[in-house]
Amino acid sequence: MESVQTDTATLTLNGAEYELPLSIGTEDEVGVDINTLRSESGAITLDPGYGNTGSCESAITFINGEEGVLRYRGYPIGELAEKSSFVEVCYLLINGELPTQDELDDFRHKLTYHSLLHEDMKKFFEGYPPSAPPMSVLSAMVAAMSAYYPTGDEEVVDLNIIRLLAKLKTLAAFAYKKSIGQPYVYPQNRHSYTEDFLHTMFAVPSEDYEVPDVLEEALDMLLILHADHEQNCSASTVRMVGSSGASLFASVSAGIGALSGPLHGGANTEVIRMLEEIHEAGGDSSKYVEKAKDSDDPFRLMGFGHRVYKNMDPRAEIIKSTADRVLDELGLDDPLLDIARHLEEAALEDDYFIERSLYPNVDFYSGILYRAMGLPTEMFTVMFSMGRLPGWIAQWKEMRNDEATRIYRPRQVYVGAAERDYTPIEQR
Ligand code: ACO
Repeated sequence: MESVQTDTATLTLNGAEYELPLSIGTEDEVGVDINTLRSESGAITLDPGYGNTGSCESAITFINGEEGVLRYRGYPIGELAEKSSFVEVCYLLINGELPTQDELDDFRHKLTYHSLLHEDMKKFFEGYPPSAPPMSVLSAMVAAMSAYYPTGDEEVVDLNIIRLLAKLKTLAAFAYKKSIGQPYVYPQNRHSYTEDFLHTMFAVPSEDYEVPDVLEEALDMLLILHADHEQNCSASTVRMVGSSGASLFASVSAGIGALSGPLHGGANTEVIRMLEEIHEAGGDSSKYVEKAKDSDDPFRLMGFGHRVYKNMDPRAEIIKSTADRVLDELGLDDPLLDIARHLEEAALEDDYFIERSLYPNVDFYSGILYRAMGLPTEMFTVMFSMGRLPGWIAQWKEMRNDEATRIYRPRQVYVGAAERDYTPIEQR
């Protein structure tokens, strides 16, 4: 890991001075290393939501939220979305470098040949109610993989990484088929990764089904755009769970749980719900912009704002143009897309949004694209999980191999009652 220790920061606390080393990143970001602060001074730093706290040094993804920059292993997201494939990006994130042709062929082969589920795992699906949220099913099934594929030495861990990448899409498609009461469609080795997922989702045994190229290309691009986003809520969860020595499956299962929340991966579902609500109420988007600005109204414009991006999310731009192309090629006319465009225009011209640097995020248009692909709203966050999986794996692997890793264990500032005597119940 490339970081140079230069200079120090000085903290003055209760009259004493503490020299704190700096960690300078590749792009000159500065981290003040407070590792020894508590042992030397008794004080800790307080940062609810960790907005100002670096939990690790990482060589995977670089984001400059002010300038709208996102790079995986140094490669700009726009170039990868245009020229690469999701499988190649998985290899890049997990292994650190782009593969040679032989390495890519071998990786593809493994991802194909490990995509079948253990037949016994199908019985789990029978136990879930048809109404089960697919994210709950996915998280539970990934946790259950620990039982079928126990962890072991490095070779076993590498095989489990392949298994997880190969099988998650099968688990996702089976969860969907279960929810609509259709028979499961098994993965086929002749398909590409993304094509195979769409096939297991939409094929039915009684009919021939060919995955349209435009859908395969659009989904592959969407998966690339979601593949990593440095220390976000779910990636930090994966690292935190993994820091205790928990298995890859246990760590990623927890990450899926974190992603399911409406403020994280669940936002694309919320965007569609919001657009539907506006549509059903007559399509007046400006009324909803006013609602979002009203501090007494809990309503927020879903798909707007980001903890890190204070500029246009580079992924949102790419998705927006792809949504236009897919709808055009499939000959679809989605009224929600028009509402989304109006909402974006109205918000981008409004002082409230300008002053707070609230721009559309990746979720704003991804929901419309998923709808165009025929994916039900409940599956949107599952799609996000499939895309984010290589990022979680890369983060987990980096955490594991980093000598600086200790079990994640934040401190707190206690603000509860001071010591007091217990009062028996009859005296209260
Ligand atoms: N609509 C209206 N106002 C908003 C919105 C929004 N979507 N987002 C933020 N604001 C306002 C807040 O009310 C606050 O205003 P104030 O300063 O007057 O109090 C200000 O902008 C700052 O907002 P915070 O909540 O402090 O920003 P934070 O970084 O904590 O939250 C978040 C970021 C959670 C993404 C937030 O913008 C939000 O809730 N957006 C909608 C949900 C969403 O789209 N989430 C997806 C994120 S992307 C992802 O996870 C892949």
